[in-house]
Amino acid sequence: MVREWDPRTASSAEIASLLDTLNAVLAADLPQDPPWRANSLREYLSEVMPGERRISWVAQDDPAPDGTPGAIVGHVHVLLLGGIGVLEVLTHPARRRTGIGRELVRVAARRVWDEGFQSIGVEVVGDTPAVGFYEALGFTRDYVETRSVLDLGAVDWPALTEMATEVGAGYHVEFCPGGPPDELIEAYARAKAEVREVDDVELRPSSYDPDRLRDSLATLHRRGMKPYIVLALHEQTGEVAGLTEVVVPAQHPTRADQYDTIVVREHRGYGIDRAIKARMLLELRSAEPEVAEVQTWNAQVNESMLKVNAELGYRPDRDWCEYGVDVGELVHRLDSHR
Ligand SMILES: CC(C)(COP(=O)(O)OP(=O)(O)OC[C@H]1O[C@@H](n2cnc3c(N)ncnc32)[C@H](O)[C@@H]1OP(=O)(O)O)[C@@H](O)C(=O)NCCC(=O)NCCS
Repeated sequence: MVREWDPRTASSAEIASLLDTLNAVLAADLPQDPPWRANSLREYLSEVMPGERRISWVAQDDPAPDGTPGAIVGHVHVLLLGGIGVLEVLTHPARRRTGIGRELVRVAARRVWDEGFQSIGVEVVGDTPAVGFYEALGFTRDYVETRSVLDLGAVDWPALTEMATEVGAGYHVEFCPGGPPDELIEAYARAKAEVREVDDVELRPSSYDPDRLRDSLATLHRRGMKPYIVLALHEQTGEVAGLTEVVVPAQHPTRADQYDTIVVREHRGYGIDRAIKARMLLELRSAEPEVAEVQTWNAQVNESMLKVNAELGYRPDRDWCEYGVDVGELVHRLDSHR
């Protein structure tokens, strides 16, 4: 049975059942990824940025004869933001190819259509069944990134300590656990806005104005995701010349996520990218001793960043693709398949 589901009011047993399914999916499709934990999972599934909405459905087995609720064997949520609905679907590996995924996408797409949205986007992990699934549903590939993973156990720490200091004269590198200090929010937002055109990735929008940035940091904290930031400040102007962001999620605290790394154009060529990333890893090692790996996503065209990541020890892991579809066409295709 597929039904709309609100993670804010769901029972703890349902949250636990969804976690079991999510971990079965990871074990089948991304066996190197750490399993997720229950920590802040409800908040992760519920909290959104102001102005955004997330709507969820589950596929649940029938209750047992004694009334015990059935397991959650599939889940979909759609995040409505800007003009797009961003979809995430999963089906327990033991229950795949029985039409659950298609039915979940059908109900979600119908709602997105009813809400007046025209397009749906989804992140699809390369070399997993999701590729065939979304292509069968008529989604097309818009963009491919590479996910890379850094094993902190294999890092050459003395070399990294050296790299962290190799920044041009006139720059000051600063570590900001929790987020940028309030007095730097405006300069921080300016640095992010500058590279918007070049590096923007539609499904993971960044925040470019100070208020949106504050909201975004508050949302991260509410979702149980702890941000760490390293800044390179241009001493002469006080401007943020470079920044790098890492988030440690309560749901998988052994593997941190590298978010944006930005070096403002006029400050490129001074070693800032390498130095701030190296400093971040050094700080993480003492602030979050549980972190064993860091994962990052890069456009395949971003050669200079890929080069720095390789020097730090990142190893390419998977293609990470964005697919999209016109909602009207999707609704029509799924309705006529029934
Ligand atoms: C993608 C996914 C949701 C599909 O779920 P599902 O319930 O098996 O999908 P369905 O049974 O509704 O399949 C619908 C159609 O999609 C296509 N399809 C599904 N799996 C496919 C596969 N492995 N290869 C090729 N096509 C496939 C088929 O056309 C299928 O129709 P058919 O079975 O009649 O031929 C499921 O594989 C999954 O959960 N993947 C993990 C997604 C995820 O979140 N990943 C993130 C962490 S890795």
